[in-house]
Amino acid sequence: MAARIIGTGSGLPEHIVTNDYLSTVVDTSDEWIRERTGIRERRISKGETTSDLASKAAKQALESAGMSSDQIELILVATFTADSHMPSTACLVQQEIKATNAVCFDISAACTGFVYALSCAYAYIHAGMYKNALVIGAETISKTIDWTDRGTCVLFGDGAGAVVVQADESGKMTFVQGSDGSKGRALTYYGKSMNNLLTSLNDNNSYISMDGQEVFKFAVKKVPECMEELFVKTNVDIDEVKYFCLHQANKRIIHSVAKRLKQPEEKFPINLDKYGNTSAASIPILLDELYKDNRIQKGDKFVISGFGGGLTWGAALIEC
Ligand code: UT7
Repeated sequence: MAARIIGTGSGLPEHIVTNDYLSTVVDTSDEWIRERTGIRERRISKGETTSDLASKAAKQALESAGMSSDQIELILVATFTADSHMPSTACLVQQEIKATNAVCFDISAACTGFVYALSCAYAYIHAGMYKNALVIGAETISKTIDWTDRGTCVLFGDGAGAVVVQADESGKMTFVQGSDGSKGRALTYYGKSMNNLLTSLNDNNSYISMDGQEVFKFAVKKVPECMEELFVKTNVDIDEVKYFCLHQANKRIIHSVAKRLKQPEEKFPINLDKYGNTSAASIPILLDELYKDNRIQKGDKFVISGFGGGLTWGAALIEC
């Protein structure tokens, strides 16, 4: 059985932080941030947790799908900024939206997390185990940031996006995915997990850290490569694709991918100017905008692609 996206939603903190505001926090400028990344502002949580934002997105997605929460059999949350290691964010969402019939767990694949989570939901549905799944990307990256590091603090934002995926022969999703653990050091967040009884190692002060140029080079090579693989695998002509919905990390990465694929930039929607890099949330937030504006309709073909920490990457061709 194949599957379709039948509902979308998003959950964004209300508080907007502009580039000008950040230039009062670190030695940066609106001009530098806009030129190097395309970001103008981002949303930063003032107390909303990852599960709060994820639940908000989930409720909207259910409403737009016209479904009740008890019809959901599977909740997957892609995040590297869970409220807690235990319980999972997916279980917290389950409790909040009262999806009592769902199996729930989190997926940790940084900015590729949503693509991986969608592929898991699709595989479960394809195998006949479940018919209705809620797939969410949600982050409160602001809590992982060193607010004295201008190299990272200007890039990220908080938010969540969700889709409802339903078994349906008229839809189709094809995935190409990969990981390279040998390059994991390029983008790290260790969190507060070290408190060793025997060595007294106790690290409570870890922040996100990134070799920006290494990740940039990886992204502009790997994303077009995996998309090209996708078109060979599906035998679909690239010109049939209406939109390429890339992880919203950097406008220059997106434009470089467009150039490499010889596709017009207009086919690559961008909202990172408003939200910054929201990691696993960026693709579903973008999809929510496109679905709400009726820019994606039944019969359309579009591509999603994520890349980032791990290192990880993935792309999907979605035939609606
Ligand atoms: O979502 C996960 C995937 N992540 C990504 O895809 C991120 C990929 N990387 C990037 O998007 C870019 O590498 C960045 C936006 C992070 C950085 O842009 P860049 O053009 O690679 O800049 P850079 O790191 O080479 O830094 C250039 C200069 C340096 O100064 P010097 O050494 O030339 O004097 C930095 O210190 O810019 C300086 N700089 C800044 N200046 C003002 C770095 N951050 C800032 C800043 N404001 N916020």
